[in-house]
Amino acid sequence: MHVVEAVLPLSNLIQYPRLAFIDAPTPLEHLTRLSDYLGRDIFMKRDDVMSMAMGGNKLRKLEFLAADALRQGADVLVTAGAIQSNHVRQTAAVAAKLGLKCVALLENPINTQAENYLGNGNRLLLKLMDCEVVMVDALATPDAQLAEQAMRLEAQGFRPYVIPIGGSNALGALGYVECAREIAQQSAGRVDFSAVVVASGSAGTQSGLAVGLEQLLPQTEVIGVTVSRKLADQQPKVEKLNHELAQLLALKVSAPVTLWDDYFAPQYGSPNEEGMAAVKLLARLEGIFLDPVYTGKAMAGLIDGIRQRRFCREGPILFVHTGGAPALFAYYPSA
Ligand SMILES: Cc1ncc(COP(=O)(O)O)c(C=O)c1O
Repeated sequence: MHVVEAVLPLSNLIQYPRLAFIDAPTPLEHLTRLSDYLGRDIFMKRDDVMSMAMGGNKLRKLEFLAADALRQGADVLVTAGAIQSNHVRQTAAVAAKLGLKCVALLENPINTQAENYLGNGNRLLLKLMDCEVVMVDALATPDAQLAEQAMRLEAQGFRPYVIPIGGSNALGALGYVECAREIAQQSAGRVDFSAVVVASGSAGTQSGLAVGLEQLLPQTEVIGVTVSRKLADQQPKVEKLNHELAQLLALKVSAPVTLWDDYFAPQYGSPNEEGMAAVKLLARLEGIFLDPVYTGKAMAGLIDGIRQRRFCREGPILFVHTGGAPALFAYYPSA
């Protein structure tokens, strides 16, 4: 069984200023009915359970990113995502909380005109928070598009702080190194996880967990279930971020990146049958709401992974619930 002193290699985390947006540590629960159903012990890290803005993984990243924005004297947070982006919703909430303006570049990645997609769910919440929305045809070159918005805002006298898509730079990924620390502490002496399963999109969540858990629970495999890209495109993204994050923390990373890319079809943002079956299963067995775009598909991967014996080791599995349930209302009734 691992020991908590293993936390020491991550002491460099402490040097990065951080605001407090989440109710840490988030709960780590044993899902007894799902475990019985699957014949395997399944635990869940409840990063969907936070008092701020309906919770979710981006708040952990924003603890570090918003601290940096304040340090730089910013008065606007600028970011980008899909119309139903959970990341944009959480960024707008942080801006509101800090008394900053928020500007969001939004795209319609599934090219739908469905009323709920265009106006309900996360998009409704952006409206309530008075986030300034700039619609774009596609976020084809997001960093350049964000830089252009920042220049526009500067010309108007603002001091913008750009947050990349998903908050996934090395600074943001520190939030999930912190989550890895919570997982190690909450599981110490209680459970030895064979694997951690998480949705992998802009990659900061997987990267932070992988780098953190390699130090703290090196026997535990971290599996990213991709939600937007095939392995060949996602792997270099995760590896690059792992490398940058390791540099920030003055650590060496050597664990291989594990990605499962079989569960997101037909494309990012379009629900599929297995993902929606997982959403319903968790609602009916556990009263827990996953989402159609990220966590439903990641859970479909976990379930199929058990059935196909894809996990390297036997033993309990931890699913990281990264939030996203507000999007259920946007996808209704098509989901
Ligand atoms: C609910 C939810 N889960 C998972 C992810 C993926 O996290 P990451 O972008 O850090 O890979 C996102 C990203 O937007 C999300 O909104």
